Amino acid sequence: MTPRRPWPLNVDGIAYGGDYNPEQWPLEVQTEDVRLMREAGVGLVSVAIFSWAQLEPREGDFDFAWLDAVLDRLHAAGIGVALATATASPPPWLTRKHPEILPRLADGTVLHQGSRQSYAVASPLFRDYALGMTRRMAERYRDHPALALWHVDNELGCHVPHDCSDAAAEAFRRWLRHRYGTPAALNTAWGTAFWSQHYDSFDEVLPPLSAPTFVNPTQQLDFARFSSDELLTHYRALRDVLRELTPHVPTTTNLMMSTGTKWMDYFSWADDLDVVANDHYLIAGDPEAHIELAFSADLSRGVAGGDPWMLMEHSTSAVNWQPRNRAKGPGEMLRNSLAHVARGADAVMFFQWRQSAAGAEKYHSAMLPHAGEDSDVWRGTLELGRRLRSLSPVRGSRVVADVALVFDYPSWWASESEGHPTQALSYPDEVMRWYRALWRRGVTVDIVSPRTVPSGHRVVIVPTLYAVDDGCAARIAEAAHGGASVLVTFFSGIVDENDHVRLGGYPGAFRELLGVRTEEFHPLLQDETLTLDDGTSATLWSERTRLEGARAVRTWAEGPLEGLPAVTRNPAGRGSAWYVGTRPDADGVARIVDALLAEADVAPAVPGLADGVEAVRRRADDGTSFLFLINHTSHDVEVPATGRELIRGEEVRSHLTVPALETAVLRER
Ligand code: GAL
Repeated sequence: MTPRRPWPLNVDGIAYGGDYNPEQWPLEVQTEDVRLMREAGVGLVSVAIFSWAQLEPREGDFDFAWLDAVLDRLHAAGIGVALATATASPPPWLTRKHPEILPRLADGTVLHQGSRQSYAVASPLFRDYALGMTRRMAERYRDHPALALWHVDNELGCHVPHDCSDAAAEAFRRWLRHRYGTPAALNTAWGTAFWSQHYDSFDEVLPPLSAPTFVNPTQQLDFARFSSDELLTHYRALRDVLRELTPHVPTTTNLMMSTGTKWMDYFSWADDLDVVANDHYLIAGDPEAHIELAFSADLSRGVAGGDPWMLMEHSTSAVNWQPRNRAKGPGEMLRNSLAHVARGADAVMFFQWRQSAAGAEKYHSAMLPHAGEDSDVWRGTLELGRRLRSLSPVRGSRVVADVALVFDYPSWWASESEGHPTQALSYPDEVMRWYRALWRRGVTVDIVSPRTVPSGHRVVIVPTLYAVDDGCAARIAEAAHGGASVLVTFFSGIVDENDHVRLGGYPGAFRELLGVRTEEFHPLLQDETLTLDDGTSATLWSERTRLEGARAVRTWAEGPLEGLPAVTRNPAGRGSAWYVGTRPDADGVARIVDALLAEADVAPAVPGLADGVEAVRRRADDGTSFLFLINHTSHDVEVPATGRELIRGEEVRSHLTVPALETAVLRER
């Protein structure tokens, strides 16, 4: 089971480091940086992400000397470089000379220079400049011994996922021509017989610009698909230059896989990344942010197809871009970091190495804070370096999971569209409701795409998978027939890939599998709660469901649907197919999850753990397993275990104590 993906060159063990922006500092600070990086055990830094204007201050006038010196200094200290293409933010001379490369919003607002990412990703002119810069970087540093990895652009689509510039409109039309071939096919797919939207030629088509009322939903869905593809196309173009000049160096870009980033379909990007890299930031206002972190990490591993992946950015403490930016609590950064490693990360990196003194991110934490070395944050940086060194043997091992959760970006986009039965539906909320219950049970989950549902999971959870093509529906049914307990929740299988309703009763694509048929949705009003026959309650959604083979597991105890099924179970081949036609409260979800886990005989990684203690296992090729225990509670916990605890370097004979807010990693064999 050696990882299929290439890894940053010459970086041993778990890679440790962060974004490094030396251009913000004088030479003596840069020299000190390298000394302190060595002290912390940093082995990899991302350099030149936002350096275009320093590297090419005037068009065609390049200054690489400072970057040469940075790379030489890092190499001399044994530190590898994830070298950026420097194209993440065009320099002012470029946007002044060619304002036509600026991106535009749906309402016509132009996004100007003075911040970052001010480019229309579909602009051929911008692409040419970016390719030119990428080529320069590759030609200059192709043989530099510090070069470990290429980092294309930065968080593609972070600020401008949907550009509506003229260049984007042109590219969108090309994309549509390629997808549909003829205007007639586009008209059928978009349902343009509605509201006089018929197109006579592709030239008449625009991005979904601001309009008097609801814009055609299939147009919106296709524009979302196109926009994600266009960002990927940009990545590919730059990556191809790097591959041509440095075929031996892996290439990636940092994705943003979390419940907060909606618009890039990362499952479709995975094959183009030599190594999958993720940036993750906790949401300070979320009391269960560590569970969202776990989801993000599991999603990263899912996109990586189960291979080890890189945590390319997270924060040592506060960020600066939320309404209120909380500093991390005692041990939180260490727990966060090791939780990512537990779930398959073989790299732990931060934004950023040294906290900026100027600029928009000066209040964002870093590995080396404003306060300097005499600070808890710096002591945490040193401690993490020490811990990651002790975890070197974990590198390359893979996470073991019996449960899969199907996650789909296009269903996210389409399910939250306007003009739907309820505007209160949040796709990530629905996903997290089930994920959280599994996390609390200590059960590890693989997050998978409906396009590639792997076989072998004993439970498959399918929350609100609104838009499915026939292939996806068939793959999910196959999982049940093959022996899995499959659970599908409301507003799934409703439309096809063109957002056309599957007729004959809901949930169209899954009706047969689930053995139910719904005639009409009955969304609940704000603050409306209805009780089910087991005493749990539900909000948001109900529907008039008839049994067509399935049996009712829960029925409505009140309201207009009293006595009708709310949760059902249908035998399906060697497995089963459950349907949840509402949004149960946390207790209701927990009970259903318990029933599924019991039916499928799925046990937690460590049975009987206290609430708030996370346990995840990674397994190496040779059968060695590593048990990660992360104690998020304020009391010490005792875990029955034998093996060697790697962080403290102690033999464990029967029990291991994981102190409050601490982490332990046990090599079990
Ligand atoms: C990321 C970005 C970094 C930095 C960081 C702050 O989105 O890639 O450059 O801005 O956020 O949290």
